[in-house]
Amino acid sequence: MTNWTEIDEIAKKWVREAGSRIKQSMQENLTIETKSNPNDLVTNIDKETERFFIDCIQQTFPGHRILGEEGQGDKLHSLDGVVWIIDPIDGTMNFVHQQRHFAISIGIFENGKGKIGLIYDVMQDELYHAFSGEGAYMNDTALPSLREVPIEEAIIAVNATWVTENRRIDPGILAPLVKRVRGTRSYGSAALELASVAAGRIDAYITMRLAPWDYAAGCILLNEVGGIYTTVEGEHFTFLDNHSVLAGNPAIHKIIFNDYLHADK
Ligand code: IPD
Ligand code: CA
Ligand code: CA
Repeated sequence: MTNWTEIDEIAKKWVREAGSRIKQSMQENLTIETKSNPNDLVTNIDKETERFFIDCIQQTFPGHRILGEEGQGDKLHSLDGVVWIIDPIDGTMNFVHQQRHFAISIGIFENGKGKIGLIYDVMQDELYHAFSGEGAYMNDTALPSLREVPIEEAIIAVNATWVTENRRIDPGILAPLVKRVRGTRSYGSAALELASVAAGRIDAYITMRLAPWDYAAGCILLNEVGGIYTTVEGEHFTFLDNHSVLAGNPAIHKIIFNDYLHADK
């Protein structure tokens, strides 16, 4: 039988160790490459951090499977068994340009069900963690269930790239929404944005295209605090595909979905 307490403890230990390695590596010169476009960055540290997790997992839990952003894990077509979904550095652009506001993000699933979510803000030394059914925490502080917030008092995180990239939802709907809410933010790390929704620091996050390693851990945190997440079309996540993400506290998710994204229906 899978010993989830052991997995939880060791995963947290590895995440903190990987964070220390990343901090140390910041004294050295980075090798920076680009991936899908000139602004899609990857460094030697992204790859080395993913390798670190893969080596640890394969040695300790040889039956577990791994979906990692940098492609050094397994090629997965299902979430059968125990699967680790890993983004070794979420917010690589922040890592390269700002040396802060980036995170290690790990979601661990059993037959498609999220069991453990870990998002480690390395420079703040803040580990957001959740264990299915046992709540979510930031370090030792429990994250309370999300409370209802009037839309006029909501802060929403929006990835501005949707204005240029999105073809299915009219970007024009953004203006009245931005006008109505109290404020907007864009942190440049989907994992930290989702952790911030779970912590109640922002009330919703909308973005048009994320990969499973960007959102897996955040969704496990959200499950524990009563957060809701769907695609902008209202579909459930498979945790294997890239798609849009609308995550938030239930009241704000509902208003953004009904009154803005789908007001014409
Ligand atoms: C990116 C960040 C960013 C989001 C991008 C992601 P990366 O992840 O989460 O905030 O807008 O869609 O790809 O490339 O830094 O791991
Ligand atoms: Ca990412
Ligand atoms: Ca990454």
